[in-house]
Amino acid sequence: MKPRKQREFPNQPTPPHSSAAVNIIGAGLAGLSAAMTLAEQGIPCRLVAPMPSERAQSVMAEGGINAALDTMGEQDDPMEHFHDTMKGGAFLADPHAVEGLCRHAPLIVQKLCSLGAALQMKDGQPVLRYFGGQKKRRTAYAQSSTGKILMTALIDAVRKYEASGLVRRYSHHRLYDLLVNGQQCDGVQVADSYTGMVWFLPGAVILASGGMNSLFPGQTTGSVVNTGDVTAQAFVDGAALANPEFIQFHPTTFAIPGKRCLVSEAARGEGGRLFTLRDGQKWYFMEEKYPELGNLMPRDVVSREIEMIRQSGSGQVWLDMTALERTVWAAKLADLRQECLDYLGKDPAEEPIEVSPGIHYYMGGLWVDEYHRTNIRGLYAAGECACQYHGANRLGGNSMLGAIYGGQVAAQTAAEESSQCPPKEEHMVEGLTAERMIPTAVSQQAAKIFTRALGIFRSGEILSQAVTEVEELIDHETDRLQRNRLLLGKAMLLSALHRQESRGAHTRTDYPAADDRYRKTTLVHFDGHEMTVTLQDIPERRGEDR
Ligand code: FUM
Repeated sequence: MKPRKQREFPNQPTPPHSSAAVNIIGAGLAGLSAAMTLAEQGIPCRLVAPMPSERAQSVMAEGGINAALDTMGEQDDPMEHFHDTMKGGAFLADPHAVEGLCRHAPLIVQKLCSLGAALQMKDGQPVLRYFGGQKKRRTAYAQSSTGKILMTALIDAVRKYEASGLVRRYSHHRLYDLLVNGQQCDGVQVADSYTGMVWFLPGAVILASGGMNSLFPGQTTGSVVNTGDVTAQAFVDGAALANPEFIQFHPTTFAIPGKRCLVSEAARGEGGRLFTLRDGQKWYFMEEKYPELGNLMPRDVVSREIEMIRQSGSGQVWLDMTALERTVWAAKLADLRQECLDYLGKDPAEEPIEVSPGIHYYMGGLWVDEYHRTNIRGLYAAGECACQYHGANRLGGNSMLGAIYGGQVAAQTAAEESSQCPPKEEHMVEGLTAERMIPTAVSQQAAKIFTRALGIFRSGEILSQAVTEVEELIDHETDRLQRNRLLLGKAMLLSALHRQESRGAHTRTDYPAADDRYRKTTLVHFDGHEMTVTLQDIPERRGEDR
């Protein structure tokens, strides 16, 4: 056989990955968006993640992405999107950041389309659907697999920069530690998941590592890979947390082995109706109690209503999608229908599906300012691991938008601020091998404590008891990762205890009303010994368009 001719590749110089490179931890929507923003400016970056992008949680996002594109003839406008987002978040979000988000949303969706994202289109324009907490159709979508479609487009767009060497992938690597000197982050140590070898990567760091699902095993719709370990490590290293008490329960989920399966809000956006049984008759409680938005009230409201029913005598709630037209199933919800068939063995076009709330999103996370800077210089955060945009309750359709926009802003800020760093080379850290996190009896005990205390309804008594129990576990814990998780959970408990009011996704049975003294951001700091919780004012809105 003739020897095969060696294929020739164009001789492209690989840029040196010295400290001029930015390190991005997480390769979902926020991480990819940051990588692309940097690469477009010719700035190299390293994309570090425990999984390839194809397996990031963003791929699981379902219903859509919000943008006031006004393609449905409803006179929509980015400022209406702004007002809905602020109101949905119980006025706890940073208005400047939210305004930037909503004003950029149409451009972001247009750019995604230009990258080839196969959103539902009509006459060359994205079709928009109804989603929670918004009266106008504002959510662009691809069936109920929008995340998959957006990720496919971004993965492809970033691949071009991988080929040129501007983006270098570190798949199957996870954060081992941040290099923080005083109040300055100089880089990261990352561990190879296969060998345990630890590498030092110098330069600015953008964290884009998603939510904190390891604290609530089996109860989240999100990926179990998004453990929250990166957030916990940053917190332990001195990064402040903001609003960690606000945990979003998605109203319509059902249990599957090891996690919760999401029934997208799109089902209600397309006409699905929630009901329970009252005196043997179907009672469409959301429509009766909230005539204006009905089944599409914001998620905190719907989840509370369902939980009240579940805790009362009758107990069960169903989502009725049997009246949806065949064309709607075929063109808009085919994959949602298939999921119900696969996991429940039920056809939602033929019979109602029993649903209950499940943990879906963490509104709080690492504190960042409008420019996505944490309180540590050289350290930025974007996407679900950061606190930005959603206040006390996120609107459906704003998470992918927040991840993409947040990734852009964080990258822009890092690009502007990190050029001043002196160059250093990446290298292997001799003599250091990363440990693995093995769930123990303590993980199970902790999960029980967090679940009981941080549900939809909370009380001071149960939260205080939970803090005592977790402190006891922390005192005896020697494993570094497990201890970090316990500290992160303790920060959530302390914040929930501190907030003596009910607002958004935080409902205190002992403080059932909102209290204006708490219309502030919760901040938690850890100095290595003590945790302190304080309240920070929400920035006053500047500019004319109030
Ligand atoms: O219900 C959903 O499709 C979820 C969307 C979101 O969280 O933005």
